[in-house]
Amino acid sequence: MSRLCLILFGPPGSGKGTQAKLLRQSLEVAHISTGDMLRERVASGDSLGRAVADMMQSGGLVPDDTVNRLVEERIEQPDCARGFILDGYPRTVEQARLLETVLAAKGISPVVVHLQVDYNVIIARLSGRRQCPTCGALYGVTSNSPEVSEVCDYDGSKLVVRDDDKAEVVLERLRGYDRQTVPVLEFLKNTGVRTFVVKGAEMPPQAIARQIKWLLKERGGTA
Ligand code: AP5
Repeated sequence: MSRLCLILFGPPGSGKGTQAKLLRQSLEVAHISTGDMLRERVASGDSLGRAVADMMQSGGLVPDDTVNRLVEERIEQPDCARGFILDGYPRTVEQARLLETVLAAKGISPVVVHLQVDYNVIIARLSGRRQCPTCGALYGVTSNSPEVSEVCDYDGSKLVVRDDDKAEVVLERLRGYDRQTVPVLEFLKNTGVRTFVVKGAEMPPQAIARQIKWLLKERGGTA
């Protein structure tokens, strides 16, 4: 079986992280979230974390060189041997170019799943998003909510709100997505990458994950 590289593509709040967390278990592959990696560095307070904290808090993108280096190193880790899910990467055409080169050298053909969600739904979702600071589980206040309000179902931690989920920052992130990330889809399609569109707001997360697995298995993916 060839190595899977599933690129979960979509705007902020489209459900990339939610799907990656569901799919990594059943597909037995690694989950690479550039947002999570960068947030870990910010929390650690190391020099990279200090350099990117303000950019992330304002909703802007971190420089391509920084993110590309993190991803290149991460892909070499042993847990990526069977394959990996990219969540939040590539986000610029420059990043997509680097990824194309890295994957070609490894003989990996990526698959894109584009999660389509209306921006009004996204704004509502992100204003209600909660995350477990311990295990990373994602919840919403009105849908996909925890059994006990503000408490993680898995480990009982008190849930937190992300700094960049403030309304004005969400709007900036969506503008950045339109400007810098939407062109990535065209670039990937033009380089022959298989791309599937999945509606990301009409079903619960588990049903969407089943649909993605079906697409990978029956429509030319490698899972
Ligand atoms: P990152 O962490 O990647 O954020 P994002 O792409 O903006 O995406 P989100 O994590 O906000 O949303 P998501 O699509 O994962 O949705 P989720 O599953 O959480 O990046 C953060 C920042 O880091 C960037 O702004 C940038 O500064 C920097 N960065 C990261 N990568 C970079 C890169 N490559 N280059 C440069 N800079 C980079 O779901 C959202 C909510 O919806 C949750 O509450 C969830 O419970 C709910 N939900 C999910 N699915 C459903 C459903 N089907 N029905 C109902 N509710 C649902």
